[in-house]
Amino acid sequence: RGKQDQDMERSTKAHLVCMAVPAQGHINSMLNLAKVLHSKGSFITFVNTEFVHRRFLKNPESLSSLDGLPDFRFASIPDGVSPSNDGDEHKQDIPNLSLAIKNNCPAPFLKLLSSMNDPNSGVPPVNCVISDCFASFTLDATTKLGIPNVFYCASSVCGFMDFYYCKDLMERGIIPLKSEDDLTNGYLDTVIDWRPGMIDVPMRDLTSFIRTTNRNDILLNFIIDETHASHQATAIIFNSFSELESPLLNACSSMLPSVFDIGPMCLLSQYISNDSSIPSFGRLNLWKEDLGCLEWLDEKEPGSVLYVNFGSMANLTSKQLLEFAWGLANSACPFLWAIRPDLVEGDTALLPQEFSEMTKGRSFITSWCPQQRVLSHAAVGGFLTHCGWNSTTESICAGVPMICWPFFSDQQINCRYICSVWKIGMEINEDVEREEVARLIEEMMRGQKGKEMKKAAMEWKEKAFEAAKPGGGSWINLERLIKEIITKE
Ligand code: UDX
Repeated sequence: RGKQDQDMERSTKAHLVCMAVPAQGHINSMLNLAKVLHSKGSFITFVNTEFVHRRFLKNPESLSSLDGLPDFRFASIPDGVSPSNDGDEHKQDIPNLSLAIKNNCPAPFLKLLSSMNDPNSGVPPVNCVISDCFASFTLDATTKLGIPNVFYCASSVCGFMDFYYCKDLMERGIIPLKSEDDLTNGYLDTVIDWRPGMIDVPMRDLTSFIRTTNRNDILLNFIIDETHASHQATAIIFNSFSELESPLLNACSSMLPSVFDIGPMCLLSQYISNDSSIPSFGRLNLWKEDLGCLEWLDEKEPGSVLYVNFGSMANLTSKQLLEFAWGLANSACPFLWAIRPDLVEGDTALLPQEFSEMTKGRSFITSWCPQQRVLSHAAVGGFLTHCGWNSTTESICAGVPMICWPFFSDQQINCRYICSVWKIGMEINEDVEREEVARLIEEMMRGQKGKEMKKAAMEWKEKAFEAAKPGGGSWINLERLIKEIITKE
């Protein structure tokens, strides 16, 4: 085809600008959505903030794998977070990062959108912005320029609603906590039973961000403001599917603008990857992936290995790390454990020599691995997880049951739904102890409860595939979104 044809086609493509927030889980999820929208004939500009973009530039295997895709390009905007002095590892200071984005990104984002709408920009004019729902700063620019702004929620619907209802908890005087004593005096056992669409849960299952005595707590106010900003969005996409979170989606639909459940996104994007007519997509990794763990898994019996990973943001104390380590060592189960370089706060993740000796031959320790491929590997029989939403959906899509140790954010409520509603997981006490870790691993990998959870996980896997296969509910919703919002004149 001649260049003229290509230019012509380009100018008729819908141009979508995807604005990600600088966290690995959110970026993975948004990239999957971008990939799916790209496959539907959109021109994509994927925008990161400089905090992570700088790191992707330093991880050549990451960005280069995405370079040169037709009608797909990257952009970055300043976030005012200065590079750290300690090499490649930027400290993920989540409260400050959230504030920085909110305060520093609106003007650069407006500038970026305006520049792309310039007829000489070389890209089609912007049809629609897809913002992470925690990047509501984009509303300023889209309102000024009259461009639709669709929010994308990388968290579960239960997680989103849990955040959303924090405003009501505040108005009812339930939060903030009256004193630090409320953390230990039984107050967190108070059952919250009035949130439409949600199951009744004790306060300890609500987002960890409520565990504050400060009414002005940065993260608590951030999640309230951001989830309520979704009233101003043109529509909101959830990375979920109706069978999984039906009552929640119904409650959401009655409160918010057009709600589209389009997920699990990891599965939709996988269908694209399997289609050889669509250019292959790479991944954006903040850490270098260790593919050696896949070869190690190849040697193991089907369903015999426990995979342990706490995602991209959780931090353990040295004591918690040791309790997990000894629990794993005492369980006698083969395990693959990814210990991120910054997993243990303020310290290096040092495991005792005795642990290495005791687990020799049945352990593989690495820092970052290709998680989706690991979870889909036949050798993996269970997942010890922090219950981040990507990890949860990736585990569901692989039919792998979970041992849950939620760390923060939406992970507490995800854990409650995993264990009590979907019945595909068992929870470890917050104050993790090695005996309990070993006992739950044994139960998961060899016990009756483990068998029941495996069966339930396989059933959810099937439902996830139904929703995400071409022609399934999630694709129908995607096509509806494109027709009703994105390409609507
Ligand atoms: C965060 C929040 O914690 C989560 O609760 C929220 O819903 C999304 O953003 P994170 O803590 O990183 O994400 O957890 P998770 O959502 O599970 O995302 C981690 C992602 O990194 C997954 O897509 C996972 O496949 C990937 N990953 C993780 C790897 O590829 N390799 C690893 O070794 C670890």
